[in-house]
Amino acid sequence: MKFTVLMGSPRPEGNTAALLRPFLEECTRMGVETHCFRLNELSLSPCRGCMACQEVPDRLGCVQEDDLSKVFEAMKDCDVMVLATPIYSWYCTPAMKALMDRAIYAGNKYYGREKGASLLEGRRVATVVTCGYRPQEGADLWEQGLKRWCTHGKMEYMGMLCRRDLGRKVPFLDEEKEQAARDFAQAICLAVKTEELCAQEFI
Ligand SMILES: Cc1cc2nc3c(=O)[nH]c(=O)nc-3n(C[C@H](O)[C@H](O)[C@H](O)COP(=O)(O)O)c2cc1C
Repeated sequence: MKFTVLMGSPRPEGNTAALLRPFLEECTRMGVETHCFRLNELSLSPCRGCMACQEVPDRLGCVQEDDLSKVFEAMKDCDVMVLATPIYSWYCTPAMKALMDRAIYAGNKYYGREKGASLLEGRRVATVVTCGYRPQEGADLWEQGLKRWCTHGKMEYMGMLCRRDLGRKVPFLDEEKEQAARDFAQAICLAVKTEELCAQEFI
């Protein structure tokens, strides 16, 4: 089993990285091959909206020559895509948003002269999130948006693990969060093995 992890936090030692660590450890323990991309260390420019990709029916076809192609290949070649992000202004970080915009546009040929392929069709998507508000008010809009992103691209949304950052005076990672991250990894692996969607909520 292969997971492609898209890490959108600009802080390599931040809260999202801390929550992701036990998740990845559990994945490895369960025999999952994980491939992690730190989006802030890559060159991923925002979508220019030029629409050139829409006239290329069977591959990305983006005119920008940066790291999108290699990340997109890994998004296609996996059992689960894991989008890890802190919440910034009620959504994901700019690096994650740039990737999502370009992947959903160049990845779905809905707007050209002829309708083409959905290059990420059938991919499963899960998300690992940290935020300052309670998850219900901090990460709800992100989850809604991500669900629609999946529907638009014919992908399957599996679920969200979200934990709250209570500020600098409280250490972020504790036993409960570590266990929740391990449980989420197990639930995702099990869902892939049994070909079911992950019904549990992890917020
Ligand atoms: C620029 C910025 C914007 C943020 N916006 C929100 C927000 O809209 N809602 C929220 O719940 N938390 C917000 N937060 C809090 C972060 O989501 C939270 O501290 C998170 O755990 C940071 O993760 P990191 O250490 O991986 O960067 C924001 C933090 C920053 C720096």
